[in-house]
Amino acid sequence: MAPEIQSLCPSTTAALLLLAACLAAAVAALDAADYARPPLPAGGGGRRVLFANGLGLTPQMGWNSWNHFQCDINEAVVRSTADALVAIGLAKAGYTYVNLDDCWADSERTKEVGYMVANPKTFPSGIKALADYVHSKGLKLGIYSSAGTRTCSNRMPGSLGYEERDAKMFASWGVDYLKYDNCYRDGTPETVRFGRMSRALVNSGRPIFYSLCEWGFMEVPKWGGMYGNSWRTTGDINDTWSGMLDNIDLNDAYARYAKPGGWNDPDMLEVGNGGMAYNEYVVHFSLWAIAKAPLVIGCDVTRVSNETLGILSNAEVIAISQDRLGVQGQKVSKYGNDLEVWAGQLSGHRKAVLLLNRGATRSASITAAWPDVGIRRGVAVEARDVWKHETLPGWFTGSLTAVVGPHSCKLFVLTPVPS
Ligand code: GLA
Repeated sequence: MAPEIQSLCPSTTAALLLLAACLAAAVAALDAADYARPPLPAGGGGRRVLFANGLGLTPQMGWNSWNHFQCDINEAVVRSTADALVAIGLAKAGYTYVNLDDCWADSERTKEVGYMVANPKTFPSGIKALADYVHSKGLKLGIYSSAGTRTCSNRMPGSLGYEERDAKMFASWGVDYLKYDNCYRDGTPETVRFGRMSRALVNSGRPIFYSLCEWGFMEVPKWGGMYGNSWRTTGDINDTWSGMLDNIDLNDAYARYAKPGGWNDPDMLEVGNGGMAYNEYVVHFSLWAIAKAPLVIGCDVTRVSNETLGILSNAEVIAISQDRLGVQGQKVSKYGNDLEVWAGQLSGHRKAVLLLNRGATRSASITAAWPDVGIRRGVAVEARDVWKHETLPGWFTGSLTAVVGPHSCKLFVLTPVPS
């Protein structure tokens, strides 16, 4: 077995779930074998094994309450979100997780036994009933806690010291996903606190997607894959052009650590929240797709505009994100301050290529040169514009050039033509 595949499949476990993850990862590794991937460092990253729950073989897709609703959530909002995801086709497009963020729980644990309970005013039916409802729609329910004594809002308890109890409770409610934050910590390292919840989830008896949210501390991409399915690499996104770009730039430095089962997370989507123009949200969504970032919608999907829906449900862009190879695309060249080329390997010997104009005023011509995007000199490709849903006329050899407007991008899938 190739060493890369061996490292993905520890011999000590016989768990069937892990087997599924291993097989998929092995297939992806074989498909990727033709391509030079940046070597993993000699530290923890190189020896890591997948967090053994078989989930996250492609970046997670879903919805989360925080970016739009913050603490103003209740069970009606979550139910109508699940309804809307199905009704407007987002569920079918792949957005499966319906995730509660902060503020779902009562302010204190129960006095006698110390259980975390749903806020009786906003979630009177409880989380189990909510999970049943979400499941009845063919979707999955996510929940939120913190590796500290309180969550970031300080409106509910965190799980520090209660990891086993909370994980078992979440499992008994039918929860499918945990976002685990990093507020009100006690000084113990992230590796310890996030590791404890990782073990508790594995022991909970239910496969629960584990999303670490510790903002990139302790170089989490180097160890996050041993504990969870995704890890935040940045602070919180804000709904601005520069904030969005800051997050994806920070995230880019860790591209080599992403692979099926574990993903870098530059935070949730702001598409549809109103802080950016249409073309800027197209850039946001394109960058998240090519970088294999989680596609977790952060707007109110019950009142979504056609423009927003068009971005979020673009099947050709989603296919780049969800490509089975799971190779995170990277920034591969830069011209001046504003013009960039990003590229990433896709299955079937294809490439995703993004031409990005970060400038605010002028259109510019941007060239993706084959050596930069990793195509052999002399190879001819067909270029599909995945926003226009058009294949460009003719073949391209050596490079591809396009004019890109200010604060805009073009996103292509390049497929080699037989020589
Ligand atoms: C932190 C996280 C956010 C969100 C809030 C909730 O800031 O990074 O994504 O979960 O807490 O309070």
